[in-house]
Amino acid sequence: SWPERVRVVEVGPRDGLQNEKAQVPTAEKIRFIDLLSEAGLPVVEATSFVSPRAIPQLSDASEVMQSIKLLESVEYPVLVPNSKGMERALAAGVRAIAVFTAASEEFTRHNINATIAQSLENFRPVIELARQEGVSVRGYISTVFGCPYEGQVAPEKVADVALALLELGVSELSLGDTIGVATPKQVIEVLDLLLSHHSIPASQLAVHFHDTRGTALANVLAALQVGITTVDSSAGGLGGCPYAPGAAGNLATEDLVYMLNGMGIETGVDLEKLVAATRTIAPFLGHTPTSKYYQAAMSA
Ligand code: HMG
Ligand code: MG
Repeated sequence: SWPERVRVVEVGPRDGLQNEKAQVPTAEKIRFIDLLSEAGLPVVEATSFVSPRAIPQLSDASEVMQSIKLLESVEYPVLVPNSKGMERALAAGVRAIAVFTAASEEFTRHNINATIAQSLENFRPVIELARQEGVSVRGYISTVFGCPYEGQVAPEKVADVALALLELGVSELSLGDTIGVATPKQVIEVLDLLLSHHSIPASQLAVHFHDTRGTALANVLAALQVGITTVDSSAGGLGGCPYAPGAAGNLATEDLVYMLNGMGIETGVDLEKLVAATRTIAPFLGHTPTSKYYQAAMSA
């Protein structure tokens, strides 16, 4: 069976733009975010308060956060890796954050220069501060279905990290297929372990697929069938991860919303406005957005 409604978490301005080679002007990022929130997306991940040396594209995070039009109905989470990032985020008025680690050691080292255990320790003061300030916290787990450095990842390793993040106080976990290798059967196996064996409520789990090998929508469908109702995606299919060699774009929000609309599953997203948002940022990317729906709409 399918859910009646899916909550789409738009990650284009963060996961999308972080991997774009061309420096996108700050004003264009702000316009992109405003158009996405006006398109009815309930969550628009706006930027990252990471080291500007790690991700130069998002070094304008404070200015972006302070300039976007904050709609009451929309959440604008940002990535925060450590206490320094949390201080910058709070100073910019952030009300929702996401911490991020992985299910494989090698990726974690490349991405955030820490072991998984160290990363969790680094999150402790960040999450404590978030709790005091009433800021919501999502926790990303990367390489859930495979690692660019280590290959296969044991589902039990994912469960260990998931339980540790919940223990620290994150309210939602996003399970990342960082390099887009998952297939539906594997998605169901990993979710079943978390949902049934470890009794994590489906309402606390989100899926985050990269479409490197064309399996992202099929994986979403598998996740919906086992009760997941929060799905991450990126307008235009922008994205990837600079620390994951070969990672292509995220599942495109247009493609996801088109499929859900066709199935009668509510999202609250206006597909035409979404396409218009992608069309506005496209000239600043230096390449055509990969979303199939977007390309079809542009050539119609
Ligand atoms: P480090 O070098 O180990 O950190 O980096 P450090 O604490 O030694 O600091 C080094 C320098 O960075 C210092 O500056 C710090 O002040 C500064 P210096 O004294 O040398 O001038 N610094 C900062 N500046 C601003 N904001 C900060 C900050 N932190 C330190 N927050 C660190 C460790 C975690 C900081 C770094 O590796 C980093 O920023 N990594 C982020 C990488 C990243 O953003 N990756 C992409 C996001 S994850 C992803 O895309 C996956 C996801 O989509 C899910 C999926 O698909 O799997 C979420
Ligand atoms: Mg990602």
